[in-house]
Amino acid sequence: MVKLAILGTGIISECHFFALDHIKDVKVTAIASIDEKSGKAACEKFGAKYYNDYKNLLSNEKDFDGIVIALPNHMHYEACTAAIDAGVKSILCEKPLGINSEQSACIVEKARKAGIFFQTAYMKRFNPGFRKIKDALEEIGEIEFVTSSIYASSPEPSISSKTPVKSWHGDSKLSGGGFLTHSGSHHLDLLRHLFGDIKSVSCKCRYDSGDGRDYYLNGKLFMKSGIEIDMRLGRVDIPNLGPGFTLFRGGWNETIEVIAHRGYIKVENPSWQGYEAMKVTHWFKGMPGPTETYYECNEQWINEFAAYVESCKTHILSPSGSSAEDGYRVDFIIEKMRESGRKNGEIVEID
Ligand SMILES: NC(=O)c1ccc[n+]([C@@H]2O[C@H](COP(=O)([O-])OP(=O)(O)OC[C@H]3O[C@@H](n4cnc5c(N)ncnc54)[C@H](O)[C@@H]3O)[C@@H](O)[C@H]2O)c1
Repeated sequence: MVKLAILGTGIISECHFFALDHIKDVKVTAIASIDEKSGKAACEKFGAKYYNDYKNLLSNEKDFDGIVIALPNHMHYEACTAAIDAGVKSILCEKPLGINSEQSACIVEKARKAGIFFQTAYMKRFNPGFRKIKDALEEIGEIEFVTSSIYASSPEPSISSKTPVKSWHGDSKLSGGGFLTHSGSHHLDLLRHLFGDIKSVSCKCRYDSGDGRDYYLNGKLFMKSGIEIDMRLGRVDIPNLGPGFTLFRGGWNETIEVIAHRGYIKVENPSWQGYEAMKVTHWFKGMPGPTETYYECNEQWINEFAAYVESCKTHILSPSGSSAEDGYRVDFIIEKMRESGRKNGEIVEID
């Protein structure tokens, strides 16, 4: 039985708790949240002990094998550091790893020196639809085009006053950035997982508020393998663009499309909360035409947590897992994309 302590009981924890409900051999023993209502409700659900601050949990609780950090972005660095200092042996930390690459580099170094197990919670690698792309890569042969896009039917408040902003989510000093940090980070991690590392980037950015809250991005990722990927991100004022998403009025429209010499694959609408089926369209050479298959997006949470629970026992990262280094790499690439945006799309080397 793997015992877990959870730090934070906010929006994302709904997905984590869904996953934990579906995994055997795991027990949540302690939960920390400054929000007493959601913290105590979660403790009641799992029969866990409640702490009103994560620091109290780390200094007083010893009955766990690993922790899950689901705190606001600006707290990841301090919480990871405090957890390692407290002797925690396994950490699953929500994305982005830090609010800048300097923080995430320090987390990588500290985790390495302490010899602990660390996983960055980029769950799209565990998504059943996106896994189909990885499975298809050999079959479809040489890649011609890859396009990745995420459009949310929810404009930034500075271009519309309709969107309510939750405290830290909308403050770049606390969140680390705009849509690129919140959502583009997922695709940067996933695209590295699928197509290898990124050599250089070019990025044009509209509505850059100057403080890192960038949205409406048109990027090009030049992969070390030679593949060029078009990446588009936008929080747009267009309602109902995709499956309903409680935080955004009307929709979440996310796609990765791959065109190759011997095949085609497109993954659509992996909604974050996963309440709707996602669609995978594929064609392999010899098939009369494309075939559509639907998957349960919510499986991504179960797969991610099952992998982490297993890693708490073995200290080995699952083949789909993102390491601390992967988390750092994404944070660094984001900074390089911003740099390119400031230089109006000039190509910026990553290494
Ligand atoms: N993987 C994804 O797709 C995804 C989606 C959404 C959020 N996230 C990430 O999850 C993390 C949490 O985001 P959220 O939207 O759930 O935030 P939130 O603001 O809804 O929740 C934050 C939680 O942290 C708790 N907290 C704050 N200070 C604390 C302290 N000192 N001690 C204990 N608890 C404390 C709050 O009580 C709250 O429960 C962020 O890093 C975010 O980027 C990931």
